[in-house]
Amino acid sequence: MREALEQLRNQALEEVDRAATVADLDQVRVRTIGKKGALTQLLRGLGQVSADQRPLLGELANQVKEAFNQAFAARLEALKDSALEAQLTREGLDVTLSGRQRPPGGVHPITRALGEIGDIFQAMGFFTATGPEVESDWHNFEALNIPADHPAREMHDTFYLPPGPDGEKRVLRTHTSPVQIRVMEGSRPPLRVIAPGKVFRCDSDLTHTPMFHQVEGFMVDRNVHFGHLKGLLEAFLRRFFERDLPVRFRPSFFPFTEPSAEVDMGCLFCAGRGCRVCKGGGWLEVLGCGMIHPVVLGNVGIDRERFSGFAFGMGVERLAMLKYGINDLRTFYENDVRFLESHAGL
Ligand code: DAH
Repeated sequence: MREALEQLRNQALEEVDRAATVADLDQVRVRTIGKKGALTQLLRGLGQVSADQRPLLGELANQVKEAFNQAFAARLEALKDSALEAQLTREGLDVTLSGRQRPPGGVHPITRALGEIGDIFQAMGFFTATGPEVESDWHNFEALNIPADHPAREMHDTFYLPPGPDGEKRVLRTHTSPVQIRVMEGSRPPLRVIAPGKVFRCDSDLTHTPMFHQVEGFMVDRNVHFGHLKGLLEAFLRRFFERDLPVRFRPSFFPFTEPSAEVDMGCLFCAGRGCRVCKGGGWLEVLGCGMIHPVVLGNVGIDRERFSGFAFGMGVERLAMLKYGINDLRTFYENDVRFLESHAGL
């Protein structure tokens, strides 16, 4: 028995040393101290040993078991360490390798323009809001002081949609102005907000696409006046076009503003001398704006004795064409890679 135990110890310890993987090592454990393992069997045999031998053999058996457990634990630790070492080497990243070239692709010029417009207004303290493209007739028209039979509806070739589940009349929004209503319905002044997004009109030719982009902006606070609007839009246009442009305000009409104005800037391509882009006039029309109509403030429950506001709207395609020198509106939507590569932002 003693010899068997000693032999078993030597053999098991040698096998532990030889185990090359955690799985091998586990096999050794099963063979040695598992339920049917060699040591377990020997220990069971202790019952048959004569009583005077039993304590000594029992102690020896425990020493063997102890020695095995220690060797097993040490070997397991070592195998795990080297497995981790191997994994780290395998998955290692050589940070001294030279970088990869920027993958082809970039930001679409419309997205780029939207980003540049957003940055300028954000720096002036404006927050961005969004609204749904499927819009209620109330938000798109009624609340903006454009009743059903108002001639101003003809300014927008509207896509009408089937009514909503609650019978509400719905359209694809024809402008981003309804976001003004949504924001003012949901929050109180002071407000300084821009609302970028897609708009839809049933119109398609050389200079019109059924979907295009606008950025709406508005501000409501105490004592807001037209001077604030002028200063803001002049600063915006000069920053966006990165030069000291002349800007002028011409009286105009929008149902939701009073007074209303159209904003022109000096032509970028002929410095006002007259060219094809400005059709000889030296000015480019770029924005609509005005003081928010008291009826509109009333529709959203803002006290028009205490508060006043201005609003403005711009077409993103038009601004992008002027800034990046793009002369055909349709190129924005054809996704010709050569066009996208030459006008992509980062
Ligand atoms: N919603 C107008 C349009 O799509 C643009 C516009 C004009 C917006 C004047 C305004 C504004 O907020 O004050 O034609």
